Amino acid sequence: MDSATGARPGTLIHLIAAARPNFMKIAPLWHALARESWCRVELVHTGQHYDPGMSDAFFRDLELPRPDIHLGVGSGSHAEQTARVMIEYEKVCRDREPDCVIVVGDVNSTLACALVATKLHMPVAHLEAGLRSRDRRMPEEINRLLTDAIADRLWTPSPDGDENLAAEGVDAAKIAFVGNIMIDSFELMRDKIASSNIVERLGLTPRGYGAVTMHRPSNVDERDHLARLLVELESVAAKLPLVFAVHPRTRQRMADFDLSLPDDAPIQLIEPLGYLDFMKLVSDSKLVITDSGGIQEETTYLGIPCLTLRDNTERPITITEGTNRLVNADTLQAAVDEALAGRRESHRPPDKWDGRTAGRVVADLKRFLTRIERITE
Ligand code: UD1
Repeated sequence: MDSATGARPGTLIHLIAAARPNFMKIAPLWHALARESWCRVELVHTGQHYDPGMSDAFFRDLELPRPDIHLGVGSGSHAEQTARVMIEYEKVCRDREPDCVIVVGDVNSTLACALVATKLHMPVAHLEAGLRSRDRRMPEEINRLLTDAIADRLWTPSPDGDENLAAEGVDAAKIAFVGNIMIDSFELMRDKIASSNIVERLGLTPRGYGAVTMHRPSNVDERDHLARLLVELESVAAKLPLVFAVHPRTRQRMADFDLSLPDDAPIQLIEPLGYLDFMKLVSDSKLVITDSGGIQEETTYLGIPCLTLRDNTERPITITEGTNRLVNADTLQAAVDEALAGRRESHRPPDKWDGRTAGRVVADLKRFLTRIERITE
């Protein structure tokens, strides 16, 4: 027993990673936990994302070790993917008996692992808790609601997260506002990001292009809608050259629907990039067009205009205190024109988006585990 904290030496923490947007959330926490003497951390990769470009590249870029445990679940329908993670992770939990399971974000594996652990009476902590789009057609919203309903510890990135949880009747004692962990990843890797040569490699000039990502089912799963968005991107590209890092889902849909962009359009379609290259591409861009969750936050931190192709966002602070704006196929052109005409104003990132979130999480985790061990003693 560590007399200062009451935590058992060797307390086993499972850190769950599954899909691309998870890797930049677990990396700073893994690095911070690896430095602590009171715990051991095992990195569990569910295998939800498995392409080298969607997974391995991020482990390399974020200096993460090979996962201790790989569940290898791969793709499938929501039910198949969630169920496979549950079946495989339950075996792991029974075998390894973690003292705490940390899940991040809102992907299917987040919910699957939280469900397994909580039913085995293992404490679950959710990093990036409390975000709500209020759009239950989004699979991620269901994952958020259910994960937060069963987790024992809820770490929020912004005060709206605390408010959402309070409105759902969650006990305030379960919640801690820790800030945005993704900013820690950016700060940890700042120098390496700065030295990426991706902008030159793509033949671009800083501030002379826009970066695009798009993969949400609501944007890419329906032929007519995706076709319309591609036409709109072509029109944007007539004003500002674009680089479009195409997610596997989007590439597959474009092939299924027989959609493409004209060869002479100033839009480069590229494979998904690793973390360092992608953050460099965003940092040097004039604006970003996306439907991602995380990129809304990264652009707010960097002060880059972000046009989000969605009807709602679970990250409203990126609009009220950041550079984000919701757009659709009808409003995109006007929003691009405005962003191109506007001056970049100096701004301050939201509270606790400061690169020190992992430290706050580790301190809170230690207190939490100490407290529950006292109860079980
Ligand atoms: C998932 C997350 C989403 C997150 C996104 C980021 C859920 C419900 N969704 O969506 O929250 O924003 O990741 O990337 O968990 N595929 C590959 N290679 C891969 C991964 C996927 O080819 O490495 C293909 C799959 O075969 C499938 C499609 O991409 O056809 C979708 O993958 P899936 O993991 O179901 O969801 P995402 O759309 O990636």
